[in-house]
Amino acid sequence: DPDIMKTLWILFVLLNLDKGYCTKTHDQVLSITPKTQEQVDIVKNVSTQFETVLWQPVSPHFIKEENQVHLFVPANSSTSVKGLLEKNTITYEVLLTKADELMAMQTRDNSTDPRSSSSFYERYHSLEDIYDWINRTIQDSPNTANLILIGSSYEKRPLYALKLSLNNRPNKKAMWIDCGIHAREWIAPAFCLWFVRHALLHYGKNQDITNILDNMDVYILPVMNPDGYLYTWTTDRMWRKNRSISNSSICVGADLNRNFDANWCTVGASHDPCSEIYCGEFPESEPESQAVADFLRSHKDSVQLYFSIHSYSQMLLFPYSCTLDEAENHKDLLEMAKEAVEKIQRYYRNNYKYGAGARTIYLAPGGSDDWAYNLGIKYSFTFELQDRGQYGFLLPPFRISKACNEALTAVKSIALRVIEKT
Ligand code: ARG
Ligand code: ZN
Repeated sequence: DPDIMKTLWILFVLLNLDKGYCTKTHDQVLSITPKTQEQVDIVKNVSTQFETVLWQPVSPHFIKEENQVHLFVPANSSTSVKGLLEKNTITYEVLLTKADELMAMQTRDNSTDPRSSSSFYERYHSLEDIYDWINRTIQDSPNTANLILIGSSYEKRPLYALKLSLNNRPNKKAMWIDCGIHAREWIAPAFCLWFVRHALLHYGKNQDITNILDNMDVYILPVMNPDGYLYTWTTDRMWRKNRSISNSSICVGADLNRNFDANWCTVGASHDPCSEIYCGEFPESEPESQAVADFLRSHKDSVQLYFSIHSYSQMLLFPYSCTLDEAENHKDLLEMAKEAVEKIQRYYRNNYKYGAGARTIYLAPGGSDDWAYNLGIKYSFTFELQDRGQYGFLLPPFRISKACNEALTAVKSIALRVIEKT
């Protein structure tokens, strides 16, 4: 029967089209473990010579024997990168097989899908949506949430902080939280929004947040690096730095967390504008870091507690990162971090490392936490949220809730301790 033959032929063609689609190459993330110095050098070369993005460590300089390297490999360099690794018998495993599909999932706005069960806070939001959210928040809670313009970004976008203030007790102390200093760490801004929602919704109901807000005002900067954040939505999901243009190089952006005045640009940062850890031209050369530093300088008498929210790797770090020396109140900080991490373990069954930055990960000068600490904010933390590399910067929306609740638990635990101590 010619009709049946025709149908079969069409089916055959369709099946093969589908096969072709399935074998389409994808962006991937590889976990590579070099075993010898020679392999270390090869991995360093791969990460700089191909169109790849290092996820971990932050710069090729830190690649060491027996340490896992997480490398984002775009579809078009996949074959050559894997070929090179295999040729040199370097072991690797594929962490993410279809990173491109995860990226698409992260920007999909499922708010219009009536079957979707996730709330606004369980999705990632564009910069524009976050600005709208800030506006709505201050309008909906005019007595508790105030808008503060602390400065503007290199590309002249406003840097808005929210001040949550629940009563007018005199001489109230304060805590500061900034999110999104690094553009690609999307879970960080999501946490800032999560925290504000929790505070506004549960004040007077949840004992801990009530106690905290009765004793402290909270300043929250949801997106410290708006230019970079926008860029990760429009152009390059893996962008880390801000978007300032250098007059000596074609490379764009400085690492805002290497741009503060704390042993600025010593070992662990780079003067090379093309590096992911470029420290900028001079301390506070970048408008974003300068705005935060100016604000904290003018509020240092009230601000007692500082948090900077990052991802990924699940770590709760405190000063110093810019030197191997111990902070003067190291024992206090260690104890507070330990308690916070133990609560996360108890409530959420998830492990976080904790300790002084330089000894827990690497020397990294010019960070906001060390700078704030030296300014006199004696409780200063950098929080690296989920995960440990399974999804890395591409943490899917369904994981936002747990990641944020873990961080919230730790932030509250530490804030309560600070209130007790002061
Ligand atoms: N991953 C963060 C970074 O590289 C860690 C920051 C720790 N603190 C610091 N001051 N370096 O920026
Ligand atoms: Zn970061």
